[in-house]
Amino acid sequence: MKLGLIGCGKMGKALTVGAIDAGAVSAEDVMVHDHVSAAQKGFLSERNVSGAGSIAEVALYADVLLLAVKPHDVQSAIHQIRDSGTSTDTLLVISVAAGLTIERLETEIAGGGRIVRSMPNTPALVGQGAAAYSLGSSATAKDAKTSQELLGAVGLALEIKESLMDAVTGLSGSGPAYVYLFIEALADGAVQNGLPREHARQMAAQTVLGAAQMVQSTGEHPAVLKDMVTSPGGTTIAGLEALEAHAFRAACIAAVNTATARAREMGAE
Ligand SMILES: NC(=O)c1ccc[n+]([C@@H]2O[C@H](COP(=O)([O-])OP(=O)(O)OC[C@H]3O[C@@H](n4cnc5c(N)ncnc54)[C@H](OP(=O)(O)O)[C@@H]3O)[C@@H](O)[C@H]2O)c1
Repeated sequence: MKLGLIGCGKMGKALTVGAIDAGAVSAEDVMVHDHVSAAQKGFLSERNVSGAGSIAEVALYADVLLLAVKPHDVQSAIHQIRDSGTSTDTLLVISVAAGLTIERLETEIAGGGRIVRSMPNTPALVGQGAAAYSLGSSATAKDAKTSQELLGAVGLALEIKESLMDAVTGLSGSGPAYVYLFIEALADGAVQNGLPREHARQMAAQTVLGAAQMVQSTGEHPAVLKDMVTSPGGTTIAGLEALEAHAFRAACIAAVNTATARAREMGAE
């Protein structure tokens, strides 16, 4: 596979470096381009990939093109791909742009073209991303496998119906920020009870990481794991009662609902 990357920012770099490091693609088969030369040079200094002077050059080189520019830059980038003269039959374009529908992406590429739309998240930077992807109307089973390999190289990757992409945006796309807030708040509670700030931050983050790993590796329902650590009349049930009294569960559901509605709104703009 020849992989091309357009946009060497946070997400493009995380996904491409992750794919190289996981062996999903070798560095010598990767070409990257960013119109900000510092961003492109930054990438080239980290991994032994080649740099391109234009979008057209990457489009002509690649069989899989990762489009990782901001949503408002996508239209111009797609026009440059289309005008490069590359065959849209042989090229798979994977877009990670929030809110941009497959229909819109396909319309921008003359003659259709094979498209995959994805919603990754920033923990991909540490190999712990959660990404969903949906296949465009001309994408093949091989394209699904390629997307799975690339996105799965930096964490979880699930194929979903495109109509669910806004819900994914509200959950895992925006979710890291909710969890950062949770970690900060847990640490504040511990600081209020005398723990030094740095210890509180480390303990809170490790508690979230450990609990998440318990859910993943045991496959148990979170409620079962909660019950296992909640002894009668103990401290944990007292803490849980306080969370329920402050509508923690309802607040989490409302966060996902509201972010999903905002993603839907942005897609229509
Ligand atoms: N970051 C996230 O948490 C996240 C999560 C899910 C999805 N995404 C999606 O990922 C995409 C990239 O986000 P990001 O946070 O990685 O953005 P970013 O850090 O701003 O990176 C995008 C890079 O692409 C460059 N660029 C823009 N237009 C270009 C063009 N025509 N040719 C070459 N390079 C170009 C940008 O330059 P300029 O600085 O000049 O614009 C920038 O260096 C977005 O569509 C976003 O919706 C991001």
